Amino acid sequence: MRIKPANTADGQSMSDVLDDIFAAGLRKTPGDLQTVLANYIEHPDRIECSVAEGDDGRILGFQSLRYARAGNPYGAPEGWGIIGTHVSPRAARLGVGRALFQATVRAAKDFPIEKIEAAIGAKNPAGLAYYEAMGFRTRRETEVTICKVYHVASRDRQIP
Ligand SMILES: CC(C)(COP(=O)(O)OP(=O)(O)OC[C@H]1O[C@@H](n2cnc3c(N)ncnc32)[C@H](O)[C@@H]1OP(=O)(O)O)[C@@H](O)C(=O)NCCC(=O)NCCS
Repeated sequence: MRIKPANTADGQSMSDVLDDIFAAGLRKTPGDLQTVLANYIEHPDRIECSVAEGDDGRILGFQSLRYARAGNPYGAPEGWGIIGTHVSPRAARLGVGRALFQATVRAAKDFPIEKIEAAIGAKNPAGLAYYEAMGFRTRRETEVTICKVYHVASRDRQIP
């Protein structure tokens, strides 16, 4: 597996990943190419969007990190990062999400971004467990959504 920045040529494969997640009942909507281009690859607030490519060249998943502007639809504080992770069910639990997050943290440090927020469905145990495992902790929640935050700087200090 290799991790690389997403570009337009990856769009259809990323759309296929979203469709796989939808087909598995883990997402409310499929993701067509235009959605992928607009929301991830060409989003004006993109800090990074990384794809994980399998040894056979197939895209296994992707992760986006966006700059949170005032009034962003997720309600994240201005200046934070907003993260989204999408790994195909056929590649689940193989370390794809973990590898993607290493690239995202590097991008956050370079930008720099000190805090990253993830909005996860309250009924998405895999998503909640994944972000917890990456070091995110709950900061606010409703019945529908749980928002977890990752402190980029404080985590740095723990790594010698
Ligand atoms: C949640 C998701 C991103 C995890 O990606 P992944 O590539 O399977 O995760 P990894 O294999 O890198 O797992 C890293 C760690 O996260 C945790 N984790 C991941 N999936 C888990 C699951 N289904 N149950 C419990 N813990 C899980 C584990 O601690 C895991 O470490 P381990 O395998 O060494 O125990 C992926 O399942 C996915 O894209 N789901 C659909 C979309 C989604 O829910 N996105 C995130 C919330 S919006």
